[in-house]
Amino acid sequence: MSGARAKKIAVVAGDGIGPEVVKSALAVLDAAGADFEKVPLEVGLGRWKKTGQAMSDEDLETIKQCDCVLLGAITTPPDPNYRSVLLRIRKELDLYANIRPFHSFKLDFIIVRENTEGLYSGIEEVGEEESRTLRVITRRGSERIAAAACDLAAKRKKLTIVHKSNVLRSDRLFLKTCQKVAADRKVPAEDMLVDAVAYNLVINPGRFDVLVTSNLFGDILSDEAAGVIGSLGLCASANIGEGHALFEPIHGSAPDIAGKGIANPIGAIRSAAMMIEWLGEPETARRIEGAVEQTLLRGIATPDLGKSYKTADVTQAVIANLAKK
Ligand code: IPM
Ligand code: MG
Repeated sequence: MSGARAKKIAVVAGDGIGPEVVKSALAVLDAAGADFEKVPLEVGLGRWKKTGQAMSDEDLETIKQCDCVLLGAITTPPDPNYRSVLLRIRKELDLYANIRPFHSFKLDFIIVRENTEGLYSGIEEVGEEESRTLRVITRRGSERIAAAACDLAAKRKKLTIVHKSNVLRSDRLFLKTCQKVAADRKVPAEDMLVDAVAYNLVINPGRFDVLVTSNLFGDILSDEAAGVIGSLGLCASANIGEGHALFEPIHGSAPDIAGKGIANPIGAIRSAAMMIEWLGEPETARRIEGAVEQTLLRGIATPDLGKSYKTADVTQAVIANLAKK
C-alpha cells in the first residue's frame, strides 16, 4: 500500500456464518497483499446475550474512527425494542448509497439503493389498532443517490429509475429529481414502475444496467436479483457515505448452516474487494474479482450453488487463483 499510514478497518464478524465468511475474506485480502490495521469488534446477538446490548455507543465511536467497516452478518436479537445495529451504523455514519452489484457469467447489473430514508425513516406510530410508518423522500436524499448512480451509469450504459409514482406521491419527487440529475449529467435514463422491474428482473434481467431506487424497493429487489444470479451467497454490497463506508455480503447470518463450514464465502470476498477498491487499491480489487471468477468457472463452489465444496476449499481456490495472476 502506498499511503503513509495503514488504513484502519473495523471488523465486525457478527453472528451465525458471519465469522466464517469474514475469516475467508480476510485470508484473501492477506494473500492479495492488502495491508491494513484490523480493529475487531464484537457486535450483534453474541454481544447482546452477554451484555443485553448488541452494540454500545463506544463501539460506534470506534467505528467512526476507523476508515471503514467489514461486516459479516448479524442475527436480530429476540427483543421487541431492538434497534437494528446495521441500520444504526448506516444512519449514524450517513452511509446513503447502498451499491449492490449482481454479477454472473451472463449478467452484470448494479442496484443503487437509497440507504437512509424512505420507509426506513424510523418515523413510526405503533398502536394496537393502527400503526403507521412514514415514507420520507427528500430532494437532497434523491439528488445524492441519483448522483451516485449516475457516477456508475456514466461509465456503463444507462440508468433505470425505479419508483411507484403512479400511487405514491412521494415518489414523484424521487422520479423528478433523479431524472433531472441524469439529464444534467447527460446519463441516458429511463424509468420503470417497481412492480414492472420485479417482473422484468425475472424474465429479462439482461435489459438492466444500473438501477436506482428508494430504500425498501432496493431491499426487496436486491434479494430478488440475488436469486436471479443464482445465490445470495455470491452477492456483495458497499454502503458508502462521505468519508465512511461499510462493506458486507448481502446474505444474513444463516444460523441453520452456521458452524458446518459450508457457507459461501464469495459474497464476503467480493465485499472485501469492493472495500479495497474504495480504499484506493482498484488493481488489488480487480485481482480478487478475477480470482473469484476463475474459481466459479472451475465449479469450485459451496452447496448453495449445488456443489459440495467447503467454505475453506473455495477460499483456498480463490487464493491459489490470485497467485496465478
Ligand atoms: C439488507 C438487510 C437489512 C435491510 C436488514 C438486516 C435490516 O435486509 O441489508 O438488505 O433491510 O436493509
Ligand atoms: Mg435485505
